Amino acid sequence: MNPILDVRNVSKSFTLHNIDGRNVTALDNVSFAVAPGEHVALAGMSGAGKSTLLRVLYRTYTAASGSIDLTLSSGGVVDLTKLSDREVVALRGRELGYVSQFLRAQPRRAVIDLVARAGVSRGMSRDEAREAAAISLQRLNIAESLWDMHTAVLSGGEKQRVNIAAGLISPPRILLLDEPVSALDPENRERAIDLIADLSTAGVAVLAVFHDLDAIARLASRVIRMARGSIVEDGPTADILPHLQPAEVQV
Ligand SMILES: Nc1ncnc2c1ncn2[C@@H]1O[C@H](COP(=O)(O)OP(=O)(O)O)[C@@H](O)[C@H]1O
Ligand SMILES: [Mg+2]
Repeated sequence: MNPILDVRNVSKSFTLHNIDGRNVTALDNVSFAVAPGEHVALAGMSGAGKSTLLRVLYRTYTAASGSIDLTLSSGGVVDLTKLSDREVVALRGRELGYVSQFLRAQPRRAVIDLVARAGVSRGMSRDEAREAAAISLQRLNIAESLWDMHTAVLSGGEKQRVNIAAGLISPPRILLLDEPVSALDPENRERAIDLIADLSTAGVAVLAVFHDLDAIARLASRVIRMARGSIVEDGPTADILPHLQPAEVQV
């Protein structure tokens, strides 16, 4: 099967203007592909380049070199490194999604509106989106009494769950997750993991950084291990998980 995402020789460095203009290589010649519906975990020590890779794929950062081919639902293929910002914005949501650890600041919006708007931006009708938002919020254990509150009043864990609900409503064909369940207590973490696991039945490809080995074991069939901006191992979860150091799955 053709990959949905084909990353070739991607590099990215940052210039630290505050420290004598020193250059930090965050990604060094990274290549891998993701099949439709495949769930891949990114592991590696803090600073290995995991978040930078997800941001380069979502085009929050631009790659310095390399190509990132994304196969669209139409069957066409685009190189994300070559698109204009406007073209990238048009692809986000429907074709490519990103969920970070933090809720994007929309403090004065009601919880259910925030989630439903994400659905509308992916082509759902208003009614469909509201219904789907209610189902997701219920599954993520957000009390109905909170649905009409502003997101600013939520606790950190509640914000993170609302963020997941918004990211997973009418999910795109490939979803990038950066520590999506890091702030959750065990019960709510289970609920969020169940919801993410369901994505594979729905054929959604996932590339994710998780906080813990247990989440990787349950959600990923393959692990890519990074160190100092490079991929050092890429294989089935069962082969790689046993030798991961605890520090390689921490934030
Ligand atoms: N916006 C940025 N400006 C400067 N350096 C950055 C920036 N983002 C990441 N880096 C650097 O790139 C390297 C990889 O960081 P990151 O991708 O956040 O790692 P990880 O998510 O694996 O912990 C680190 O050395 C980090 O300091
Ligand atoms: Mg990170």
